[in-house]
This record gives sequence, structure tokens and C-alpha cells, in this order.
Amino acid sequence: MWGGRFSDKPAELMQAINVSIGFDKRLAAQDLAGSRAHAAMLRTAGVITSEDEAAIQGGLAAIEAEIEAGTFAFRDEYEDIHMNVEARLRELIGPAAGRLHTARSRNDQVALDFRMWVRDACDRTAAQIKALQNALLAKAELHADAVMPGFTHLQPAQPVTFGHHLMAYVEMFGRDAARFADARARMNESPLGAAALAGSPFPIDRHMTAKALGFDRPTANSLDSVADRDFALESLAAATICATHLSRLAEEIVIWMTPQFGFIRLSDAFTTGSSIMPQKKNPDAAELIRAKVGRLLGSFTQLSVVMKGLPLTYSKDMQEDKVPTFEAFDALELSLRAMAGMVADLEPVREKMAAAAGAGFSTATDLADWLVRELNLPFRDAHHVTGAAVKKAEELGVGLPELPLSELQALDGRITSAIYDVLTPEASVASRKSYGGTAPDQVRAQIKRWKEALA
Ligand code: ARG
Repeated sequence: MWGGRFSDKPAELMQAINVSIGFDKRLAAQDLAGSRAHAAMLRTAGVITSEDEAAIQGGLAAIEAEIEAGTFAFRDEYEDIHMNVEARLRELIGPAAGRLHTARSRNDQVALDFRMWVRDACDRTAAQIKALQNALLAKAELHADAVMPGFTHLQPAQPVTFGHHLMAYVEMFGRDAARFADARARMNESPLGAAALAGSPFPIDRHMTAKALGFDRPTANSLDSVADRDFALESLAAATICATHLSRLAEEIVIWMTPQFGFIRLSDAFTTGSSIMPQKKNPDAAELIRAKVGRLLGSFTQLSVVMKGLPLTYSKDMQEDKVPTFEAFDALELSLRAMAGMVADLEPVREKMAAAAGAGFSTATDLADWLVRELNLPFRDAHHVTGAAVKKAEELGVGLPELPLSELQALDGRITSAIYDVLTPEASVASRKSYGGTAPDQVRAQIKRWKEALA
């Protein structure tokens, strides 16, 4: 492509370090779309003739068909996707192919292709997040009133419902989807026409190509257009946060699956056995999702370091933007799909959850709240009395609902048997009717709100 200036071929090592077709062939669809829009614009602007444009469009369509059929020969000697397409175009249509690169550089071309790829990836991810949220919503609706222990410090804290717990993740994934939408809105400006770095002397119409390629507008500074990859960084940051959320749910699935907890069952479809221990059923998919966040954060770190300290504008360092970004989205998309599958598959063991919800004096706060409400005790005093009640129950080896009234009255003579109404996990969750609380009716209200939002 630059034979005029060069008389020798590159060293083999030069080619080995320079070549990117092995990975940037994933930009083929975006590259062809960009070229089609560019060719149409060049003809409208009177820069190329209609005949040349028709030849170019025909050649690009043929290349697209070859790529789809898997017959396109990606060749290392043409370095990257842009030059592979152009070289093939020349084979197919002859010298007119050379007119496509008028008013364009690989610098704005790759900035465009990569931006469109990331934009597509954000859209796919948003759709997968939505599918996961729908799976969570369906499960939450079935178990909006299934009591389970709520934890702090992974110690039983207060009873909650399984539906409420799942809905916490619906909120988290909702913010993840919003982060992708925000990133998408910011990245949706077309860099095409920035050319090498300074813009073009040809009468190009950047608004036309921007519109044709689904962008809101062209970018406003040609140097910035070819020099930055913050759209990818921002998307990787959103992806990393989403993977972090996934890892937490994955970890809970691992914990709930242990026989010690026994809160859920996963079918054979989402578990694996052991080659030596016949009794085992391992939640490998959850473990792998838990681990993927390392890859995501690694990708974000990789691209940050590639971009750090680069002087404007384009430097070849930026070719290293693609692999981490592709890997990150591949890992995230697979994790989201596997998690949606696992959530649909898992069955809570309601009896186990309910039994655990009542254990560990989990309604102690309810007892204290009753003393405040009914006896007008200051909360700190109620806390003290309740602590003594828990101590007594522990001594007697019973739960709070089984603690004899006489024992409670020994702590405060005004306590009546009405207190037992608040000491079961079911009563506890039913009482937490504050907005966003765990009362089944509140949970159902949030499920309804989300169903409407996602419809
Ligand atoms: N393969 C290159 C990349 O991914 C395309 C841009 C090359 N531009 C250049 N001036 N060498 O960054």
C-alpha cells in the first residue's frame, strides 16, 4: 500500500509484531459498513463518479458475501482488516478500488470500526442484561414470600424473602444496563472524515456518513477523533462493574448450593460431577462466572495502560486496544447468558431457607422494636432487654419464639403474649412494609414496577 516510498519488504519480525488481521478481522462488518457509507458520500460530494461508486459498492457486497460464506482469504501480508478489504477490492474491481481511500485514513477508519464494534457490543450486552433481569424477576415473583435469612458479615441478621434478595440484583443489573446506555450515548459520534488527524481538503460531508452509520453527529475535533479510545475504556469500566455484580451472585449460588446451606438446587444442566467423588454436584458455571471478573478488570487495566501517556494523535500502540476489549465482552456476554440460564434453572429449597431464617435469633430486632412500639422503651434500652432475652434463650437451648413468657416478663413485667406475634420470620418480613423493604407486598410492587420498565 505504500510501495512508492519503500524499496524493500518488511523483515519477518516486523510483520510478526505489526500484523493485526488475526484479531481485527472481527471488525470486518463494521469496516464494510463504513466503506459503503464513505463511498456513497464521496459520490454525493462529487469526489468520485457514480460508475466508480457502483463498482466499489458491488465489490464491497461481494467481499461481504465471501466473508459470510467463510471463503474470504484473510492474509497476513496485508496486515489488518482495512488493507485486506482494500486489496481484495482491487482484485475484484481493479483501479477504481483505489478511489475508496480518498479523504480517509486507516486512522479514522479504525477509530470508526472499533467504535461501531464497541457500540454493538454495548447493545448486545444491554439485551443480555435485560434477559438476566427477566429471569431474576420470574424467580422473584414465584418466591416473593419465601423467607430466608438476610445476612450481614455472612452472619444471620434479619429474615428477608428470597424474592427480595433476587430483586436486589435486578436493581444492580439495572444500573449496569444504564451505564452501558450512558456510554453508548457518549460514544455515538462518528470519527469518519477526521482522516489521518487533521481533517480533509475534499468537500466531504461528515454529517451524511454519521447519519448513514447510525451516529448522532460527527465528532467535533479531528485530533481527538483518531487519538482517543475512551469509549472503549468507559465500556470496559461498565463491563467490569457488571462482572463484579455477577461474581457476587455467583458466589451466593456457590454458598447456597453447599449441603451446609442447602438453600437451592441446580439441575444436572448447570452442574458437573467429580471424577473421583461420586456424591459431588459442583456449581462450576457459578465458579467460572465468579472468576471472569479477573479477565474483565485485566482488560480494563490493559487498555488504560496502553493509552496512558500517549501523545496525540494516533500511535500504533492503539492497535493493542482490540484484544482486551474483544476478550472482555466475550467473557461478559458468556457470563450473562450462563447466569440467566442458571437463575432460570435454580430451585430454592423453601423449607431449608425458612428453617434457617428462624435460626440464630434472627427476630431479635423485631422483639426490640415491639418493646419500643408497645412499651415505649427507648431503642437502646429495648436493645439491652432483647440482648438479655437472647442470652436466656441460648441458655435454655430454644429460639426466641419458644422462650417462655415468664422468662420475658422477668426482664420487663409489662411484656404480654402479644409479643409472640412478631417473633416468627414470616411476621418479621411481613412487618417491614417501608418502601423498598422486604414485606412480600413491597417486593411484589417492585417486581411489577420492573416488569413494566422492562416491557
Ligand atoms: N491496524 C491499525 C490499528 O488497529 C489500523 C490503523 C493503522 N494506522 C496507521 N497509521 N498505521 O490501529
